[in-house]
Amino acid sequence: MTEVRLEAATVTVPVDGSPGQRTRTILGPVDLVLTESRVTVIGANGSGKSTLLRLLNGLVTPTSGTVTVDALDTVRHGARVRRRVAFAFTDPISQLVMPTGREDVELSLRRLHRSRTERRAAAERVLERFGLAPLADQSVYDLSGGERQLMALAVVLATEPGLLVLDEPTTLLDRRNTLRLRSLLDSLPQSVVVATHDLELALHADRTLVVDEGRIVCDGEPATAVERYLALSDAT
Ligand SMILES: Nc1ncnc2c1ncn2[C@@H]1O[C@H](COP(=O)(O)OP(=O)(O)OP(=O)(O)O)[C@@H](O)[C@H]1O
Ligand SMILES: [Mg+2]
Repeated sequence: MTEVRLEAATVTVPVDGSPGQRTRTILGPVDLVLTESRVTVIGANGSGKSTLLRLLNGLVTPTSGTVTVDALDTVRHGARVRRRVAFAFTDPISQLVMPTGREDVELSLRRLHRSRTERRAAAERVLERFGLAPLADQSVYDLSGGERQLMALAVVLATEPGLLVLDEPTTLLDRRNTLRLRSLLDSLPQSVVVATHDLELALHADRTLVVDEGRIVCDGEPATAVERYLALSDAT
């Protein structure tokens, strides 16, 4: 199981976009050790969920404090961390760089399978597993929003990362695909961290974090955390 450790991790950004001027802390300081297999992150728009998730694979580096994944520092060992931690963005088109899904899956398999034949066979298996084989040769721009989101997930999961970080993976999905995604997540051997506004999905976890104004204000049992989030939302 992957261990993620945040020690006084803080993210500060320049207020006027110019370094050396006034700064604003958008996250932290956060102290966390994540070892659970399913962690969900909830909170209002702009509370800091994506920032927290991006810290986990070094997409965002802490301004102060440290973030480590299996004792690898995300700043000093960024490339190694990113091999272990896969990140799926809310907007799937930022993940799909090739003309078709099949080519994208094959591209992400390059490190795992050097041989072209093996890579093709592995890509086919991934596409079948996601039920995406019939859409694999279609232009990614012609896929529906939900199909594209599933395709982006297949691309990310093809590399068999130790930890999968998903930023609002169900935003574009209908009920059926949301349920499909949930059972897919259940079947994965990987640890998964998911930020979501879908409270039903949020409850589907071993542990839930509530982020509010850049701080973790609740951390624990999913039902308790969801109640806390609802109380916070109702209070404003
Ligand atoms: N690079 C940056 N520069 C300046 N401000 C930033 C930067 N990244 C994030 N922010 C700000 O930090 C805050 C937290 O952003 P973040 O994207 O983490 O929120 P979120 O909880 O994911 O929100 P949402 O639910 O809308 O996705 C926001 O106010 C955002 O505008
Ligand atoms: Mg976000």
